[in-house]
Amino acid sequence: MKRIGVLTSGGDAPGMNAAIRAVVRKAIYHGLEVYGIYQGYQGLISGHIKKMEIGSVGDIIHRGGTILHSARCPEFQSADGQKKGLKQLIEHGIEGVVVIGGDGSYRGAKALTDLGYPCIGVPGTIDNDIVGTEFTIGFDTALNTVIDAVDKIRDTASSHERTFIVEVMGRSAGDLALWAGLAAGAETIVIPEEPIDMEAMKVRLLKGLERGKKHSIIIVAEGVMSGSEFAEKVTEITGIDTRVSVLGHMQRGGSPTAADRMLASRLGAKAVELLLAGKGGRAVGVECNELIDYDITEATSLPHKLDLDIYRLSKELSI
Ligand code: F6P
Repeated sequence: MKRIGVLTSGGDAPGMNAAIRAVVRKAIYHGLEVYGIYQGYQGLISGHIKKMEIGSVGDIIHRGGTILHSARCPEFQSADGQKKGLKQLIEHGIEGVVVIGGDGSYRGAKALTDLGYPCIGVPGTIDNDIVGTEFTIGFDTALNTVIDAVDKIRDTASSHERTFIVEVMGRSAGDLALWAGLAAGAETIVIPEEPIDMEAMKVRLLKGLERGKKHSIIIVAEGVMSGSEFAEKVTEITGIDTRVSVLGHMQRGGSPTAADRMLASRLGAKAVELLLAGKGGRAVGVECNELIDYDITEATSLPHKLDLDIYRLSKELSI
């Protein structure tokens, strides 16, 4: 293999730049040429592709977002769109592609794989919902962003003796809400993977008030319902007045944490190693802090599972 491509697709995640840097530098170190494909699969279809040099990834390891830009591309879900993308890759002489993104991006990589084209998936999403890896690039940074926001909300909740509902991203996964809820000491965590017992929540809230507790933080994953919908339910069954904070896209921004920079650097380099070894149709990930690679079909066909031990622990600690 002489020439590879790299793209970022779907929702951006802090650490994507560190992953791009690792792909470019590792590839050049091993004598490969690297082409950046801009705006994800959208740019692949339209041929927005440029050669990347060592310096093109200088001064980006600490920056959030992605220098290659990103997009959601419905056209690439069709066989026609995929063929157009493949044509561009062939015309540019690109023999393998590293796709950095979430589950939608992996489905695109799987489609190229099915067309016989070598692709490696690198997990980049704040949702932490890629099957086969314990962590995705961006999750740790987003988690810290949410915790920082909740800590601040707690200050005002405490001053005003209020109950706050904080809506957290994650699409249909509850990882971000759960980890943030545990690490920020939320009283209640509402995630799509577990049914919420409204009666038990009511008892807990009211008991807390009885023993002098003045404020509460409830974290709601967006995959369950919106923060304001949940707030209405809380007020309806408890009579408690609430305030709602929707953290929104701030969760996707910011400088990546050390953990995300490390993960991104290691996984980006690992993806290049696989291409150099002539492998395609693989996804890279981390398990017990060891790098792994596995069939990308596993990532696209199996359901994501969240660690329910953490959910049980959060319940024990928020009595
Ligand atoms: O997948 C990342 C994510 O931020 C999800 O948590 C969220 O549901 C979605 O993307 C939002 O997408 P968009 O930025 O397209 O509105």
